[in-house]
Amino acid sequence: MKVKALLSVVVGSMLMFAAYAQNTSDDELIERIKPVGSVHIAGAQAESASAGPRSGADIYQSACFACHGTGALSAPKINVAAEWAPRLEQGFDTVWQNAIKGINAMPPMGGCMDCSEDDIKAAIEHMTKDI
Ligand code: HEC
Repeated sequence: MKVKALLSVVVGSMLMFAAYAQNTSDDELIERIKPVGSVHIAGAQAESASAGPRSGADIYQSACFACHGTGALSAPKINVAAEWAPRLEQGFDTVWQNAIKGINAMPPMGGCMDCSEDDIKAAIEHMTKDI
């Protein structure tokens, strides 16, 4: 009897410990998975948002429209030949370089910090495509 009782206490506490350990490791696992999971999802979204090359029209719309769509700060307006022609007379590469470096009220890269120089070129081509 005594042995049985002792055994059941031992087995019982082992089971309790096992259950405790099990719960603890589950909780730990959930805690460990959570942040990793959310970081991964955020990363996946960022990847899909920037997936594929952006067109000149996309870049214009997100980075240049504020000034070049409205003429704000006297920016040459999109596809208005009279405003672009004197600039394009300098040669496309000069105009492109000016956009990269910034010129007067025009910020460097048009303020588009994640644009490449080729993105800027594509946006300029979009803004002058009907000229
Ligand atoms: C904050 C307003 C603003 C934004 C945003 C902006 N521009 Fe401009 N941009 C200007 C202004 C103002 C000028 C005229 C500068 C001058 O010649 O005095 C200009 C001029 C230019 C020129 C002509 C440069 C030259 O040689 O005459 C190009 C090309 C140009 N911008 C491209 C872009 C592109 C591409 C973007 C978007 C990626 C962009 N800009 C975003 C204000 C802006």
